[in-house]
Amino acid sequence: MVRVVSLPGDPGLGPELARHLGAAHSTFFSKRFPDGEVYLRLVERVSGDRVLLVQSMYPSQNDRVVESLLALELLERYGNEVALIAPYLAYSRQDKEFLPGESVSLRSLLKALSSMGLSALVTVDAHNPAAVGEFLGSGRYLNVVPVEVFAEALRSYLARGVTVVAPDQGASERARALAEELGCNYVVVRKSRDKVTGEVTHSLEPLEGLRGVAVVFDDIVSTGGTVASIASFLTARGVEVALAVSHALFVGNALEKLTKSGVREVYSIPTVPVRVPGVRYLELAPHLAKLLREEGIV
Ligand code: R5P
Repeated sequence: MVRVVSLPGDPGLGPELARHLGAAHSTFFSKRFPDGEVYLRLVERVSGDRVLLVQSMYPSQNDRVVESLLALELLERYGNEVALIAPYLAYSRQDKEFLPGESVSLRSLLKALSSMGLSALVTVDAHNPAAVGEFLGSGRYLNVVPVEVFAEALRSYLARGVTVVAPDQGASERARALAEELGCNYVVVRKSRDKVTGEVTHSLEPLEGLRGVAVVFDDIVSTGGTVASIASFLTARGVEVALAVSHALFVGNALEKLTKSGVREVYSIPTVPVRVPGVRYLELAPHLAKLLREEGIV
């Protein structure tokens, strides 16, 4: 039978998914040993099932990764077929060796996860889905970018004229898909990063002449710096700015930075357990359940 099993990083998707799929739902008991090591125990016996293991890997990425590895080994040992649903996949942005000698954390993580015998990996709006697929090797991989969910919430802006903005070249496919769903245009900002200092520069010329509402669509907002610099440029030119972001990490004073830069509304989906005040969270579980069925993962 199909069973959804939640790990401690589940942002609340597990029970919702189980409800939409008509599946059983189980959890893990988890604690830390006095020295900080992770202890996990299944609350009920789970064996011989098709398991959807739900774990978001933010915050406390390192603990979340270790929990995932322990749970995968355990569930496999108990004769289950396990698909890992990682709505937020940690360590995704270091997807290549930018400087010689750097670790490629995405590759290391996926090698470790896939060595546990996954039947499939499902991510939500992974930073670089092509790299995830490549590093996963022969394993089944599905990346869900819920543009329909965002488009539904953003449709009310259309009367004022909407342009979707990709904050960098890597975000252009996501922006194109949202623009197509909304039936509007999109533009791509050019971003370059100094490989040594990490300093980021944006070429904002493609934004000149925008009118109406600009919807910046990004995978992750961490410090808010990327979106704030784009929003300041646009609001200074009288363009209203809304933000659609899959993973609202909002580290430190990110929300304040975005508000000061003129971002009026923030739309996100519950891929991490953090809930940022003022952010409008859209429903992900029904969309995910539908896709899992269509793709034959359940
Ligand atoms: C970068 O390539 C990502 O897609 C995001 O744009 C970036 O991680 C956002 O980071 P921050 O909010 O710190 O500018």
